[in-house]
Amino acid sequence: MNEQETDRQLTVDLLIKNALVFDGETSLSAATVAVKGESIVFVGYQTDFEKTSWLVEDKVTEVLDATGLLVTPGLIDCHTHIVHGGDRSHEYALRAAGRSYLEIAASGGGIKSTVRATRQASIDALVRLARPRLDRLLDRGVTAVEIKSGYGLSCDSELKILEAIKRLDSEYRINIVATFLGAHTIPSEYSGQRDDYVKLVIEEMLPAVAAGGLADFCDVFVEKSAFTVEEAEKILHAAQQVGLKPKLHADQLSFGGGAELAGRVSATSADHLEYVSGDGIKSMRDAGTVAVLLPGASLFLGDNENAPARRLIDGGVSVALATDCNPGTCMTENLHLMMTLAMSRLKMSAEEVFRAVTSNAAKAIGLESSCGYLREGRRADIAIFEAKTLADLPYQMGRNLTRQVYVAGQLAIDRAAS
Ligand code: NIG
Ligand code: FE
Repeated sequence: MNEQETDRQLTVDLLIKNALVFDGETSLSAATVAVKGESIVFVGYQTDFEKTSWLVEDKVTEVLDATGLLVTPGLIDCHTHIVHGGDRSHEYALRAAGRSYLEIAASGGGIKSTVRATRQASIDALVRLARPRLDRLLDRGVTAVEIKSGYGLSCDSELKILEAIKRLDSEYRINIVATFLGAHTIPSEYSGQRDDYVKLVIEEMLPAVAAGGLADFCDVFVEKSAFTVEEAEKILHAAQQVGLKPKLHADQLSFGGGAELAGRVSATSADHLEYVSGDGIKSMRDAGTVAVLLPGASLFLGDNENAPARRLIDGGVSVALATDCNPGTCMTENLHLMMTLAMSRLKMSAEEVFRAVTSNAAKAIGLESSCGYLREGRRADIAIFEAKTLADLPYQMGRNLTRQVYVAGQLAIDRAAS
């Protein structure tokens, strides 16, 4: 085979030209992204592309002129609770009338209310309820999603939620990462017997989750209404012993020492962090724990406390952003709105915000070697937005500027066509 024939086999399938490209770390203007099959084969300037051996054939290559458009890695929502039954709009109304989240939780509402609805739902029903939520994420350019259990709080119902997540993963081409959150709160039937519930999580739930290969991570909610640091530490050590990596809901509604614990157990991420301490930030930095900030939850709760994004970033911690989509504290799949809140309320730069929903979000769910970057050799998960600058997307608050979304090189969303 001569050299020309070798070249002919290297035809590009999709060529995106003249784009503002954000590659997961920085941006390049007037850039080109080329895709072959499921993979990215080139990211850079057109003149450099022309020096490669990749061919653009009129008949086979789709050429997309992206003048005035922004091209990014598929976005990543690295903290969601989208598999659940019921809704809690009545609690939202109660909060508007002055009741607090913790008061509502203490009187049997909150997480326990969603647990009742989720226990009653079948796997089929849970999958059916979650599909439109995933579709709405995809419609805004999200191609990787973390989903937590945590509304079952019994061995059977936690496994049921994780099975539903597994089913969604087999139905959708986007990447789905499952997190076991059996330690979300103490269920009513264990009130007054918290040690027994912790024992159930450690001795029955964790081994069953690990045996079924149903989750990559184990998360614990450290809060007055949920678990203590000591309980969380025990659970996360047991999780590590069965091969699940630690995560934490930490310092969300009050300071609780969760970020310090995250560092001690080398958690992959600690999430929320509105009330994180200086020691907590240092502990996370030393352990390489990612801070996942969820500014939609404080907005939805009407809480004025913002996570200290600047102190985290300046302290050397990687910051990611996520929706936290859940029926109690943030009922939205709008990741773009989180980007707006991060600029307006957390004072993050547009570039920091884009890193927070691409490369840093990938790191928060252990996908940094496969997702979150536009790089040669990576899977072609690509989002294209009608934005002229990085800031334009968060700036156009609430609008959906998504134009096309590619998952593994295939067109999954085409809003330009509709
Ligand atoms: O991330 N913080 C704990 N878990 C959820 C809320 C759960 C609920 O209220 O249903 C959160 O905010
Ligand atoms: Fe959460």
